[in-house]
Amino acid sequence: MTTCNLPLLTLYDRIASIYDPWSRSVTEDVGFYVEQALASGGPVVELAVGTGRIAVPIAQAGVRVIGVDSSPEMLGFARAAAESAGVTDLVDLRLGDLRDPPISERVPLVICPFRSLLHMETEDEKLRALRAARVLLEPEGRFAFDVFSPSREDIEETHGRWLEREAGIFERADWDEGTRTLSLSVRSGDVITTFGLHWLSAPEWLRLLDEAGFAVDALYGWFDRRSYDGEEDMIFACTARG
Ligand SMILES: C[S@@+](CC[C@H](N)C(=O)[O-])C[C@H]1O[C@@H](n2cnc3c(N)ncnc32)[C@H](O)[C@@H]1O
Repeated sequence: MTTCNLPLLTLYDRIASIYDPWSRSVTEDVGFYVEQALASGGPVVELAVGTGRIAVPIAQAGVRVIGVDSSPEMLGFARAAAESAGVTDLVDLRLGDLRDPPISERVPLVICPFRSLLHMETEDEKLRALRAARVLLEPEGRFAFDVFSPSREDIEETHGRWLEREAGIFERADWDEGTRTLSLSVRSGDVITTFGLHWLSAPEWLRLLDEAGFAVDALYGWFDRRSYDGEEDMIFACTARG
């Protein structure tokens, strides 16, 4: 288990107990990633596995998952979720940084769901993360992840306002279009955290993926595989170049 260079308490540790209730309505991506996992045959590496929202359904479909996350608390919830689903033998959870994941295995599929790559602040850090994903892949292995770039309407509707996303769980978005940073605050009772999400445009992601050694097979605009047409959501399906 690698623990070096990790802060003692990550921003997600503070909200681990409310992460699942907070993201309860986010279900549209689960089937997409489970299908990718089944097509690969596994094992699958999930970078930034969180509480196992995606990893546990993949394991329930019979595919082994190695999940990496920098938050011990989030991993604790993932462990509990795997236990209650009866799939602990298929879910291997490791504490570590997705830019330098503690994984020596090579796999046919790496995934990084739910915008987690946007936690990488700079282009250099994003490129480091993409290269780390590339290293984990077998020849012609695949990498799938999703990110977003906000629309003007989304910024105008949400900027600086506390919104009740789920009962008793509030979310506030502070957008900085200059630095292209969303400061997202989540609060429930005494629990509060704020983290940054640093977005890029689709052409910028395509350039970074090329630099990291990926061919992009598809860029979808949603998990139903419709083509990307400048919407907020971007779902990349890539193959490692030889
Ligand atoms: C939005 S959650 C996504 C969790 C899960 N993949 C899902 O789809 O629900 C982002 C996750 O990224 C993790 N994370 C943030 N920075 C990280 C890093 N540098 N290395 C590993 N995990 C990181 C957080 O701890 C958190 O669990």
